[in-house]
Amino acid sequence: MASDVHDIRGAGNPLDRLGRPLHDLRISVMDRCNFRCPYCMPKDSFHENYRFLRSQERLSFDEIVRLSRLFAGLGVRKLRLTGGEPLLRANLADLVGDLSAIAGIDDIALTTNGVLLGQHAVDLYANGLKRVTVSLDTLDETIFKRMSGGFAALTQVLEGIEAAISAGLEPVKVNAVIERGVNDHAALDLLERFRGRPVIVRFVEFMDVGNRNAWRPDMVVPSRELVTRIHERWPIHPVSENYRGEVAQRWRFDDGAGEIGFISSVSQPFCGACSRARLSSEGSFYTCLFATDGLDLRTPLRSGADDAQLLRTIRGAWTERRDRYSEQRDELRRSDPMHRKIEMHYIGG
Ligand code: GTP
Ligand code: 5AD
Ligand code: SF4
Ligand code: SF4
Repeated sequence: MASDVHDIRGAGNPLDRLGRPLHDLRISVMDRCNFRCPYCMPKDSFHENYRFLRSQERLSFDEIVRLSRLFAGLGVRKLRLTGGEPLLRANLADLVGDLSAIAGIDDIALTTNGVLLGQHAVDLYANGLKRVTVSLDTLDETIFKRMSGGFAALTQVLEGIEAAISAGLEPVKVNAVIERGVNDHAALDLLERFRGRPVIVRFVEFMDVGNRNAWRPDMVVPSRELVTRIHERWPIHPVSENYRGEVAQRWRFDDGAGEIGFISSVSQPFCGACSRARLSSEGSFYTCLFATDGLDLRTPLRSGADDAQLLRTIRGAWTERRDRYSEQRDELRRSDPMHRKIEMHYIGG
């Protein structure tokens, strides 16, 4: 044990090949989802016979906690639980409790579609969850049905957001993926509703994650375009980032009604400061959202590797990292149109 502690503390914080530290770990705790958003899990691919992971194939809470502790030793300060839908994982609040006890972790957040948030917000907050992000693309019932796959009611998501605010998880962030011709015309309705509330709406450019979402460049609405439209209705001004490498560009309403974010990974890639790593629900480690392959950590975990061995493996992968997919998107799409990428529901956004 003493030597593990020495290895963790003495390891120092690795930099990748482009000089980027490892600061953020996004953990997918569940590959399944109760939605079928066409941009993430299109129904024709993720049908009733799709083979999701079996429960013993997913990392257990103990395994997630052990890995998180090791990642904290390499510089990770921020954890985000994702899915699929993370709240489909039973007793998720227990995991939050264990993670919040890890030395060095000062922020734990959750990304969810919000449907089960009403049931769990109080427990999650009580166990140390600091922040929640709810995916909600529109307030229009018909478009909501189309963009979520038709398995849930919009009111459940709205209730989930309110429950999170009441539980103390404010400000709640709302991520809205904007697709041209689908929900772009109704984007400002989200602001109309949440302006002046403890909610930060963030518009996300539709991305070519995975290989199944039929992404086309002309379906992306560049954030610049939305900024102009919003500014005409409610004047807004940019504000500086909360931390280096923040994904969203922040803006505020001039009239004091709150903050808006823009996540522009297609029109304005932010790989230069990307300090995010991802852990899939079956324990593979990915150094980019658009990675082709991950590094299997479950096998060494389950075959008795000690902390020092695991740390060496993770550190080695990070120090070899050169990923900057969003900056290379056009070039890669030209040179390798079939470029295989991991699916979003599996790696967790
Ligand atoms: P904060 O901690 O609140 O700043 O959260 P975040 O913006 O890092 O996380 P969130 O899960 O809300 O991510 C918002 C959107 O940005 C999602 O659609 C993510 O898939 C996308 N995103 C997050 N990180 C990356 C990244 O490293 N690269 C790309 N291309 N997209 C990302
Ligand atoms: N493009 C942009 N954002 C996406 N998300 C899922 N798929 C895509 C995509 N193709 C978002 C979800 C959620 C977050 C984890 O990722 O809406 O907010
Ligand atoms: Fe589920 Fe989120 Fe993917 Fe939609 S975007 S299918 S809610 S994991
Ligand atoms: Fe990071 Fe990859 Fe996203 Fe670039 S494309 S910001 S390297 S996860």
